[in-house]
Amino acid sequence: MGKQFDLAQKLDNTYVMHTFVRKPVEFVSGAGQWLIDEEGNEYLDFLSGIGVVSVGHCNTRVTSALEEQINKLLHVSNYYYVEHRGEVAERISLMLANGNDETWQSFFANSGAEANEGAIKLARLWGKQSLDGAYGIVSAVKSFHGRTLATLAATAQDNKQDPFAPLPMGFGRTPLNDIEALEVALDAEYDGTKPCALMLECVQGESGVWPCTPEFLKAAREMTHERGMLLIVDEVQTGFCRTGEYFAFQGYDIVPDIVTMAKGIADGIPMGAFAARTELASLLQPGMHGTTFGGGPVACAAADATTQIMCEEGFLAHVREMGEYLRKRLAELPFVTDVRGRGLMCGVSLEQPVAAEAVLNALRHGLVLNAPAADIIRFLPPLIIEKEDVDVLIEKLPLVYKEVCK
Ligand SMILES: Cc1ncc(COP(=O)(O)O)c(C=O)c1O
Repeated sequence: MGKQFDLAQKLDNTYVMHTFVRKPVEFVSGAGQWLIDEEGNEYLDFLSGIGVVSVGHCNTRVTSALEEQINKLLHVSNYYYVEHRGEVAERISLMLANGNDETWQSFFANSGAEANEGAIKLARLWGKQSLDGAYGIVSAVKSFHGRTLATLAATAQDNKQDPFAPLPMGFGRTPLNDIEALEVALDAEYDGTKPCALMLECVQGESGVWPCTPEFLKAAREMTHERGMLLIVDEVQTGFCRTGEYFAFQGYDIVPDIVTMAKGIADGIPMGAFAARTELASLLQPGMHGTTFGGGPVACAAADATTQIMCEEGFLAHVREMGEYLRKRLAELPFVTDVRGRGLMCGVSLEQPVAAEAVLNALRHGLVLNAPAADIIRFLPPLIIEKEDVDVLIEKLPLVYKEVCK
């Protein structure tokens, strides 16, 4: 490590809150699926900033759109019309409808947590209007929906919630992929209120890539329908082609009531959104919800370029093909005991609980990976990776793993 790294580390450690344990590397540039550190070393990126850099680092179509926009207008607020906002919302509607004759309306925010926060507020309005004031939200054990107080209450993980208790009221949990337990959970009361919505990730990401079974998601849709409750699908990580569909729910053949999104939407420029069909969306009247920065012209320019690329012929097919190839090659590794996921959202379980050590060691071998649990490695590469990139990964992983095994 050189002087530049030492300074970056010293300043960061002194002046930035220690909410993340940083890896010993400073990235200074990126192109496509490659990252470069301050000494010029190259890394193949299988994390893409936690599933964010969807069409590759510094994709020139995104950077050109940004360049054009930043030289014209940076910000004016949501009081005014701006370029790109309507175009992005229309494209999201088309991607959500996926050939069906429906119109979805989006609210633009700045992060996944904010998107989910807005979805929870919209569900509460629905509960007030249609379910005698019920405002409960049921989510799945080991889910991850964000770090604001309400989204933390929906993040059903004790270790994340406990330091901040008491959390907002009315949140309940149900085990993933357990249909009988779901029925009980939807009929229960939480802090004296019935649920108005069920909130699920089609594939749980943060806890280690755990997909819903098709039966569970289908039952979830039917049971919420029967009770007049909403189904909120959190597509913050799974959305925007990550799983080989525009949105993961499309691979399950269900249609939710509210969809939340962020991460891959704008290739690295902060943006989040939640969307609902017109009738439900119209419960939010002017003044009831808002944001200063959300839906600004710069973020929307990036999202416009990113989503245009995603809608081009062959993009989704490429993600599916690469996802299948990645999973097939990972399954060949003798120390991998389980391979899960859809599209280019993939998790593997390891024979030994050395995932954190392996991820650190991978950096020394020029690979960027992620360990969501002691025995799990998660792969969320840019969606533009090629077979050769997967081959490099598979060639390097055995040594990366062997060197950290006890
Ligand atoms: C499924 C899901 N929902 C919500 C969030 C929160 O998003 P953000 O960190 O942008 O607030 C995440 C982040 O990892 C996520 O994976």
